[in-house]
Amino acid sequence: MNKLVVNLDNRSYPIYIEPAIFKETASLLGQFDSGKEFFIITDSNVRPLYGDVLFDSLRNAGLSPQLLVVPAGEHSKSLQVAEDLYTQLLAARVTRQSKIIALGGGVIGDLAGFVAATLLRGVPFIQIPTTLLSQVDSSVGGKVGINHPLGKNLIGAFYQPQLVIIDPLVLKTLPIREIKAGLAEVIKYSFIANAGFFKQLSASITDIINLNDLMLVQDIISTCCQIKAEVVAKDERESGLRAILNFGHTIGHALETVTNYDYFLHGEAVAHGMRGALYLSFLHQYINKNELTRACALIASLEPPAIPTHITGEALVQAMSKDKKRSDKGQLWILLQKIGQYDMNRNVPAEMVKEAIDFILTGN
Ligand code: NAD
Ligand code: GLY
Repeated sequence: MNKLVVNLDNRSYPIYIEPAIFKETASLLGQFDSGKEFFIITDSNVRPLYGDVLFDSLRNAGLSPQLLVVPAGEHSKSLQVAEDLYTQLLAARVTRQSKIIALGGGVIGDLAGFVAATLLRGVPFIQIPTTLLSQVDSSVGGKVGINHPLGKNLIGAFYQPQLVIIDPLVLKTLPIREIKAGLAEVIKYSFIANAGFFKQLSASITDIINLNDLMLVQDIISTCCQIKAEVVAKDERESGLRAILNFGHTIGHALETVTNYDYFLHGEAVAHGMRGALYLSFLHQYINKNELTRACALIASLEPPAIPTHITGEALVQAMSKDKKRSDKGQLWILLQKIGQYDMNRNVPAEMVKEAIDFILTGN
């Protein structure tokens, strides 16, 4: 069994990654010596695919599961839905010995994790991510939260799961657009941390998109989780290093904001944002033209939707100035010194940023 560990002292936890491991969830959960009560939180799309199966397998294994279903979609990451879950969990007599299972994509992981972090001052929780984005990013590292009408992810906590179970086989039911959006985050890891991984992705991106070889997909997910686990172990609360995981996200978030979060999937906006960050790295005389071309070619293979023509550079700069990660020391840019090596930089002139935005808006 492919196992990684996120090393965080007494909050360390394993990540299991393997095709068809989902079927073994009941026996993996059996390893906990306390509490047989499991509350599975899932969404309305994932329930018929995997929720009912998981419920039955836990019950057949002598455990005591309950299933709580929320509507699929980002709107469920709200205080209202969290409150409904608190009510259902309390009515079902949840205790600190119970465990909450987040079964779904990043929306469910963030929401269920937030509920687990806050209910009874902390109920243990387990991540079973079912989208590529959640398997390589959101299920690892303990960022949990919900949205506020004034902005995304503004209410939340750092609360680590006790276990992460990743089954690449469940990606077979995921729409290809979601696969490609998740792959933007995969490519991100190669850019910031691993040139060999970049070469591997460049050579096999079509096979990965089409999930032709699940052992290859397992390998890819594992590399991403390993990189993320190492970063989180060094900087759990994002006081420094963890910011490198935001490569491409400054412009990406601005693109999501100016399109009202209803045009791009997150990974698609990040794909464009990474093109901007790559161009900035080129203007900064870090990566050369050849690296820029190869990196942009890999992103282009994900075919992110074009940026709508009415979006202006000024609108993006304006949206970036309101980025919640901007500090009074100015905008922190994650650049690449070369492919596979990040640089954290607060000295990027506004003119360069404008040029990079022009690059992504005009496509050259
Ligand atoms: P999502 O959870 O909305 O899932 C995307 C869609 O796929 C949904 O309709 C869902 O029902 C469906 N789905 C899930 N698994 C499926 C499967 N196996 N087969 C078929 N359909 C399936 O979106 P997402 O992209 O997984 O996550 C996005 C969320 O993650 C955002 O809210 C974002 O803020 C959050 N996020 C959190 C972190 C973090 O560190 N906590 C990091 C990145 C993103
Ligand atoms: N998704 C970025 C992080 O977990 O820090």
